[in-house]
Amino acid sequence: DQEKEEIIRTAIRAFPDFPSPGICFRDITPVLKDPLAFCSVIDLFEKHLRANFPKIDVIAGLDSRGFLFGPSLAQRFNIGFLLIRKKGKLPGPTESVSYSLEYGKAELEMQYDAVEPGQKVVLIDDLLATGGTMNAACELVKRRNAEILDCLVVIELKSLKGAQKIKPYTVHSLLQYD
Ligand code: PRP
Ligand code: HPA
Repeated sequence: DQEKEEIIRTAIRAFPDFPSPGICFRDITPVLKDPLAFCSVIDLFEKHLRANFPKIDVIAGLDSRGFLFGPSLAQRFNIGFLLIRKKGKLPGPTESVSYSLEYGKAELEMQYDAVEPGQKVVLIDDLLATGGTMNAACELVKRRNAEILDCLVVIELKSLKGAQKIKPYTVHSLLQYD
């Protein structure tokens, strides 16, 4: 596992002042480009979930980079994947919640029938910064009276204290930066 973590860490690049001054942007695109790094991410998430949760009903991915990792992970468990999207992208009846993020403001939306009350849900995204996005996603799932088991991210930016924001829900990150 140490080795897998190192493979992922090596693949992640930092871009200062993107997308705006003062933001150090951690870029996960090289992880996707390298099959070994990508597989390491899915392996580590799978191992964590198997060790902690005997039953999971669905994986919920956050727009847009949660969509890159969620479906592969859901396949490992032979369960479904659902999309929590930026507002205005999903047809039919939806629930929405607005939130602020490290560099802007947005609104997330989920189809009303995406989860059933009581279902056990794991949320996934590439990165936790302020936690605004993940918190909004938790709110959407909670509104449907589904059970949130855990929030998974590849990267957690510790100094922004996102984990505090999503309490009482828990976050599991593969890599941590200040
Ligand atoms: C980024 C990232 C997370 C969120 C984290 O996505 O992928 O979803 O910000 O920030 P937070 O913890 O402060 O809320 P972004 O909103 O840039 O959208 P994108 O995935 O469509 O690029
Ligand atoms: N990288 C990628 N996405 C982000 C970041 C970051 O550093 N901060 C907020 N969203």
